[in-house]
Amino acid sequence: MHHVIEHTEHHVTVLDKLTYAGNRASLAGLPDARLTFVQGDIVDAALVDELVAAADAVVHYAAESHNDNSLDEPRPFVDTNVIGTFTLLEAARRHGTRFHHISTDEVYGDLELDDPARFTETTPYNPSSPYSSTKAGSDLLVRAWVRSFGVPATLSNCSNNYGPYQHVEKFIPRQITNVLRGERPKLYGAGRNVRDWIHADDHSAAVLTILEKGVIGETYLIGADGEKNNKEVVEMILTALGQPADAYDHVVDRPGHDLRYAIDSSKLRTELGWAPRFSDFEAGLAATIAWYRDNEAWWAPQKDATEARYRAQGQ
Ligand code: DAU
Repeated sequence: MHHVIEHTEHHVTVLDKLTYAGNRASLAGLPDARLTFVQGDIVDAALVDELVAAADAVVHYAAESHNDNSLDEPRPFVDTNVIGTFTLLEAARRHGTRFHHISTDEVYGDLELDDPARFTETTPYNPSSPYSSTKAGSDLLVRAWVRSFGVPATLSNCSNNYGPYQHVEKFIPRQITNVLRGERPKLYGAGRNVRDWIHADDHSAAVLTILEKGVIGETYLIGADGEKNNKEVVEMILTALGQPADAYDHVVDRPGHDLRYAIDSSKLRTELGWAPRFSDFEAGLAATIAWYRDNEAWWAPQKDATEARYRAQGQ
């Protein structure tokens, strides 16, 4: 949202259910004249129809997004990610609206640590978790609505995001805010799992590029060559915050935990001319740590409930 307001002239209507993961304070300071906020659910067909009728384009970021929650209670993932996407697509079909669907690299399953291959747009779908399977289902709905009904849609599948305004349930902000609170970071299992980190601003810039220049019906993978294992990331956070690099705890592993994600974003770079701006992960991480240090009022209200849920899962 911040990226669109800063880098374009568009007026943006935000439709957000404000679940536990939403935070109205994330929009504080953005100009009222450029932004309309609507609290509501993407499965509400009447509301969705009214908003889509008035829009030039829909960018569908709305999702239940956290794997650990999907293992605990899958139902909201089916409702929001599958039925919600269906509801948006039907509105886009009625009104002929340009549609961009935001998805995840997790639809491709995972890779071995030593596999030289990375995910591309033609990698077969093989999702592991309730979360990633509902995202895979939503991607397939979008593809079918393009082919069967001519909905002018594009899709993107992105790797792990980091940066400001990320909920403290996610790996990097959880560990940063743990250390800021004097608690130890929690590493699932041995910490060998690899994620391909991209700064959220680079993800946003890629989405804008696809919205402006993407070919209808096409999928674009978004990634910034940021592979790191979880242990390395925790050690970097601890070191940046002046703590011993080994001052973390190993906790119970996530069931079915995907081992490695890695994105080949050549298509987006070559065909649409996008390139990431945050190529230095350590610098991006330092800026992210500074943001959480300076914005405790934004994250503190969510921290206790998040940690209580993790404790109940032994994590
Ligand atoms: O790859 C893109 C995906 O990245 C998105 O589609 C998801 O919405 C997003 O949540 C993220 O999924 P992950 O499951 O990879 O992210 P998470 O932040 O939950 O965990 C990142 C890695 O860190 C993963 O290997 C699990 C591990 N982890 C996570 C937490 C919260 C820990 O070791 N300790 C933790 O406390």
